[in-house]
Amino acid sequence: MSTTPRTDHPSSGEAPLADQATISAEIAAHAAEYARSGRERLGPLLNYPPYRSSLLRHPTKAPFQVDPETLERFAPVFGHSDVDPLEADLTIQHRGEPLGERIVVTGRITDGDGRPVAHQLVEIWQANAAGRYIHQRDRHPAPLDPNFTGMGRCLTDANGVYRFVTIKPGPYPWRNHTNAWRPSHIHFSLFGRAFTQRLITQMYFPGDPLLPLDPIYQSITDPKARERLIATYDHDLSQPEWCTGYRWDIVLTGNLRTWMEPTE
Ligand SMILES: [Fe+2]
Repeated sequence: MSTTPRTDHPSSGEAPLADQATISAEIAAHAAEYARSGRERLGPLLNYPPYRSSLLRHPTKAPFQVDPETLERFAPVFGHSDVDPLEADLTIQHRGEPLGERIVVTGRITDGDGRPVAHQLVEIWQANAAGRYIHQRDRHPAPLDPNFTGMGRCLTDANGVYRFVTIKPGPYPWRNHTNAWRPSHIHFSLFGRAFTQRLITQMYFPGDPLLPLDPIYQSITDPKARERLIATYDHDLSQPEWCTGYRWDIVLTGNLRTWMEPTE
């Protein structure tokens, strides 16, 4: 069966795609270099060669500084009344139920000293159970689910706890190299107190065999920082006859912080 290339990654007219063995060898070489260097590196390498397009689009200039107060005069605002608690359940947005494994994903957002980050906007987006996004550029020949949009949001409570009900996303192919597959993941955005504080990252699932092969996940060269992006299966969160449960805590500052995508 032929597959239709996704158009948001290197394709025709560019260098031929590497195979997984080549990418895996490059990942191993970078991991060995990191181990040898003895450096403390929490974040990802922004120009990480195994993640091919990062070479072309990583920032090469210092971030553009904006005055948060000026920006806030024009930026969107939201109030408590704008975020409906039902928006945290991605399985009830349509007439029917989405296909896939129903899951609860919850955790605490704290600062480096364990203080809760309360009443903060948390947004998620993800592929459906078949690994397909509702996006016109997603050409993965897997079925769309008419009962799943894949976006939700909630506010953390006074203890910094967020909670979503969704379905487990499937892995999907991308054109970084031949036979490249993203591990199952959920994208997270934390709004902060102002638009200039927005942080974005990805949550992964334990035991995913694609994690060692994925150049995006592996671009975080510190193994401990990588592992903090993987949720924990928590049987106490699973509900009888209803869903399984995953816990994923997010730490915003300090040595144990959760890695976030660099802001541009
Ligand atoms: Fe994704």
